[in-house]
Amino acid sequence: MNKLSMTILGSCILLFSACSDSSEEVVSLPVSNGDELLADESGNVEMASYPTTSEMDSEGIQRSFENSPPLIPHTIDGMFKITIDENQCMMCHMPEKADEKNAMPIPLTHFTDYRPVIEQEGDLYVVQADENEVVANSTGGELNKAMFNCNLCHAPQADIDPMVKNLFEADFRSSSSKNSSNLNEVIDEGVK
Ligand code: HEC
Ligand code: HEC
Repeated sequence: MNKLSMTILGSCILLFSACSDSSEEVVSLPVSNGDELLADESGNVEMASYPTTSEMDSEGIQRSFENSPPLIPHTIDGMFKITIDENQCMMCHMPEKADEKNAMPIPLTHFTDYRPVIEQEGDLYVVQADENEVVANSTGGELNKAMFNCNLCHAPQADIDPMVKNLFEADFRSSSSKNSSNLNEVIDEGVK
């Protein structure tokens, strides 16, 4: 056997033993001293702390950029899990409840379906929308089910001192867009 085929055989044996290892060992990135990151018990890894402010005492955080999903300023402890039928966020943020709970109502965009209807015509599937048409169908008073998982887009802000600062500066076109959104009015911007 020449040197090359020996090396190939060697790696196959190594690969095989790695694959056949059924233990649930956690594999993590090695840190500079050769240890694994998750095995670091020095206490140098800082855990992020999340807001403990109650909903009543919370104030909105300035938007990250125009029409970005706002961060959640209050604790979300005990509000999980969110399912399509069970969602505590909606108890305060649904438009009909928001006033009484002093919470910002869920905006119109979450009650709109932007997906065009696709219909089969013979062998073809045809999108039922004109060129440049922005499809926006109201779902009435019912939340668009595609938006049920609030945490997909809204997250609480962790209190943390990042090692690398974010230098992005948002350019707001009006001062009201720092604390509220108007996406439903400008959804076709750039299209029409
Ligand atoms: C008990 C009522 C209550 C519940 C439950 C609740 N919220 Fe809130 N929420 C509030 C109040 C009050 C505020 C502060 C006023 C405001 O900005 O809406 C707030 C603020 C927010 C904001 C910031 C809005 C802004 O304009 O900056 C977001 C986003 C939000 N909540 C999302 C959620 C999500 C997601 C959940 C579920 C995980 C949730 N809330 C559950 C009452 C509630
Ligand atoms: C797919 C992402 C997505 C999901 C899921 C989602 N949101 Fe939003 N949300 C946004 C974005 C983007 C905005 C800002 C633009 C707009 O008005 O739509 C927003 C805005 C908001 C606002 C501020 C409204 C205003 O007038 O400024 C509230 C309150 C809110 N969402 C609550 C919720 C709640 C409660 C849920 C779950 C039932 C939810 N959102 C699910 C993306 C999402």
